[in-house]
Amino acid sequence: MTATQLTSPTTTAAAHAAFGDAGRAIRIGSMPTPTAGPGQALVKVEAAGISIGDWLVMHGLPYIARPAHGLLSPKHPVLGQELAGTIVAVGADAGDGLAPGDRVLGFTQGAFAGYAVASPEDLVLTPEGLDSVAAAAIPVSGLAAYQAVVKAGGGAAGQRLLVLGASGAVGTFAVQVGKAIGMHVTAVAGSRSQEMLTGIGADEVGDYRASDIAESGDNWDVIVDLAGNRGIGSLRRLLAPAGTAVLVGGSGGRVFMGFGRTIRAMLANPFMKQTLVPLFSAPDADDLAALRALVAAGSVVPVIDRTFPLEGLADAMSHIGGRHTQGKSVIVLDD
Ligand SMILES: NC(=O)c1ccc[n+]([C@@H]2O[C@H](COP(=O)([O-])OP(=O)(O)OC[C@H]3O[C@@H](n4cnc5c(N)ncnc54)[C@H](OP(=O)(O)O)[C@@H]3O)[C@@H](O)[C@H]2O)c1
Repeated sequence: MTATQLTSPTTTAAAHAAFGDAGRAIRIGSMPTPTAGPGQALVKVEAAGISIGDWLVMHGLPYIARPAHGLLSPKHPVLGQELAGTIVAVGADAGDGLAPGDRVLGFTQGAFAGYAVASPEDLVLTPEGLDSVAAAAIPVSGLAAYQAVVKAGGGAAGQRLLVLGASGAVGTFAVQVGKAIGMHVTAVAGSRSQEMLTGIGADEVGDYRASDIAESGDNWDVIVDLAGNRGIGSLRRLLAPAGTAVLVGGSGGRVFMGFGRTIRAMLANPFMKQTLVPLFSAPDADDLAALRALVAAGSVVPVIDRTFPLEGLADAMSHIGGRHTQGKSVIVLDD
């Protein structure tokens, strides 16, 4: 291992002790500091984004995802999937793209800790001038938004984009990614978020509690559905004749969580010109680089909801689980 900075032999981390609510699942304490193995970088974590995905992992939900999270007990010892920080060491064969001292953001397993290891291909340099809290908000939710709008949705300049559930972690990125690539964006969320959504560039805003957008008579080329509560028929009525709806959020049931709607959509696709496509967002170096470029250009600015110290992780999980965040929440490490 090439180290430029001596790290402490132990670090504070949020261990994932069991599946369940925060009181049962989270144990914050001292752990051995991980080391960078071959092909890995060791990052001093300054901030770690938290999203509904972490809440689901903590609970071991949906059950269909248990092979990835652990069948009976958690597979990954520390919670947290995304970080921003500084590389302190790189292992052998880690490539020559990143080096100790580089400020980075990206994906890992075990971000809620003072130190975490990551693969260099899952990291990008933090854009100049972006603080660690904003940087940590980007990987999971920003990439899901980018992949939904650009890749799965095939969004392009001049097209109309509808974001359902626009005020949350993924939605605030989706609105800005759509605008950045030249789309006309309609953002639907609750009343308290209308001003914020206009502020980040939405051309039109809708309040789902005041009226149902399906009654507007309008249609859109691309829909990014984060709310996950609409049937296929309702989504199709909102779509242009050859439009694409991306099913990002799912709801209903602890076993499949929206999977039934995904199956129905895939069965319906061959018989219509419209396309309903599920999103299975995953780290991708090219997508992360493209998203980073939008952030570096100032076209996408992370919207921060709240920050919590590591010791406040249980409160953060409860906040996230409430499903009414405005933008992204972030855990700040001070190890
Ligand atoms: N498939 C994938 O790869 C992938 C990746 C990332 C996330 N996801 C999923 O995407 C969904 C969104 O994630 P997120 O992190 O953005 O969630 P979030 O931060 O909890 O945001 C959800 C937002 O939806 C709004 N909302 C709730 N009910 C609504 C409705 N009926 N109509 C319109 N808006 C509504 C809420 O706004 P108000 O507060 O105003 O009610 C809230 O801000 C989740 O289901 C998550 O699991 C999937």
